[in-house]
Order: sequence, then C-alpha cells, then structure tokens
Amino acid sequence: MQTKQTKTQTKRDFVTLLDCSPEELNHIITRSRDWRTAFKNERNPSLPNAQERYEPLRGRTAGLVLEANSTRTRVGFEAGMQQMGGHAVILKSGDTQLGRGEPVRDMARVLSEMLDIIIIRTLSHDIVEELAEWASVPVVNAMTDRFHPCQLLADVQTFEEMRGPINGKTVAFIGDGYNMCHSYINAAKQWGFNLRIACPEGFEPDQEVLASASNFVQVCENAATAVDGVDLVVTDVWSSMGHEAEQAQRNAKFKDYQVNEQLLEAAKPDSLFMHCLPAHRGEEISETLLEDPRSVVWHEAGNRLHSQKALVEFLLLGHTKV
Ligand code: CP
Repeated sequence: MQTKQTKTQTKRDFVTLLDCSPEELNHIITRSRDWRTAFKNERNPSLPNAQERYEPLRGRTAGLVLEANSTRTRVGFEAGMQQMGGHAVILKSGDTQLGRGEPVRDMARVLSEMLDIIIIRTLSHDIVEELAEWASVPVVNAMTDRFHPCQLLADVQTFEEMRGPINGKTVAFIGDGYNMCHSYINAAKQWGFNLRIACPEGFEPDQEVLASASNFVQVCENAATAVDGVDLVVTDVWSSMGHEAEQAQRNAKFKDYQVNEQLLEAAKPDSLFMHCLPAHRGEEISETLLEDPRSVVWHEAGNRLHSQKALVEFLLLGHTKV
C-alpha cells in the first residue's frame, strides 16, 4: 500500500507563503534579522571573538534539487546550512532519476528516508505540490512557474529593516504577472499591504491568485498610475526562466513597463526599489537604476541567505530563540 502524508502529521512545508500564518512569517523575519546580525558580528574584526557560533542544525542534511539555474537561492541554502552546522546535498538537473521517469512520489519517500528537508526549484509547481504531499520531511519551494515565496521573505525583511513595518504600506509591482507577481499578491494578503500591479495586456497575473487577495490588490492601467505615491517599487525580468524563446516578442510588448529613474519620481521621495535579480539592464530596468540610491537590491540579495536560514530553522525546529 502506498503511504502519503496525512493531516495528522506535523511536518511543515513552504510551498507558498500561505503555508505559514502571518505570525509565523513575522517570526521568520525576526529570526532572519537575528541571523543577519550574527553573520555581520562574526565577521567584524573590531568585535571580541567571544561568541560561540550558534549551530542549531548540526548533523542535519538538506537536499537541494535544482531543475533550473540558480545563484542566490542555491548559495543561500547551501551556505546557510553549512553556517548552521548542517550540510546540503545539491542535485542538479540531470543528476536525479526524476528526469528518467522515477515518479515524484517515489523520490519523495526515498529522500525522506535520507534527508531532514527537501528544497526544490522546478518550473512545474505541480511537482512541488506532489513532493510535499508524499514526503515525510518538510518541502520548500525554491521557485516554480507559479510562486517564489523565499524571495518574498527577503524582500519584506529588507523593506522592514529600512522603512519599518510593511503593513499598511503601498507597493507597486511592474511587469510580468508571473511567479514573483503571484508571490507579491500572497504577501499583500499575509502582511496586509496594498499592492498595485501594472502588466502588459496578456501578461496579467492568474485570476484565481488575484481573487484570493482582492481586498489588497489593484490592477492598474499603466506603470505611472501604479507607482504614484508608493513606498516600494518592484519588478522582475520580462522573460523568466522557461520563456527565453519569447524574448524578442516580449521586449516589444513590455517596452512601456521599464522601471527607470523617471518613473520612480512618481513614487514617494523615500521610496525603495527592489528586484529579485538577475536583472537585465536596458530592459525591465534602465542601465543605471541598480546604482540609484533608492535601489536596495544588494541588501535584498544578502537577505536571501539570512531569511532562508530562518526558514529552514523554523521548519526543522519550530519557534526558536538564540
Ligand atoms: N532571485 C533568485 O531567485 O535568484 P536565483 O535565480 O539566482 O536563485
């Protein structure tokens, strides 16, 4: 008889932001700030080397299944596991038997026998859902064609470190109504901020995802309307992974949706700009925007490490305090 997870089992997954309560998400962000402080202090030569390194995941192993390319997410999880005293096994596309027809449900149960947590990036969201259903250890979505919840932990942390609580603030997402936009919609609901979205016709977010947060989200006619008076402006590439063949066609359709210094003038004077990266200068952003003082993309990228450590710690150990 095949066995799958039942609702009585206590393992927690992170397939979307909706898998955690708002309180749990705030706990993860708070812990991430602790991890960031510890990371900086450990590397500050002017501080006494008195603290013993906190390694709560000694002896624990994460499996990181990468069916698509990654820099930030991979390094965040791999370095993060090592810094917490654990280890990560990297399984790149072509390394596993998944591509040779081994069913997801079989891989889920095999990896659950060997690992403490499974982290997966794949362009098929269904695979992550099936993995979570059949694995007896936590499963983390490291990005699919539908959602990128790990990125939102870093984005919200970054905003709150610089501007205070995001609750009640207004955010503009400009560009493709795809996985990042969907996760911003979930985030608006979970953290209680207003989200304005501007996308070219034919690239709007999924209607079901949109409807799930209708009290918090507004789809705008154009980018200028969306950014008017907002606290944060966010964009993503015009051709995400899996859409590279449509690049030329998309560049034409998205040309009025570039985020540049002139567009940001309509946002609040103390507004911030974020991008999950990698960025395509001259396409979704101007050549110079990443160097603009309103851009906080390097801090945001760094927070991928700390927030992913906090996430794994939460999923494996629950609410913890150093
Ligand atoms: N933003 C992001 O997920 O980066 P990587 O694709 O490099 O992991």
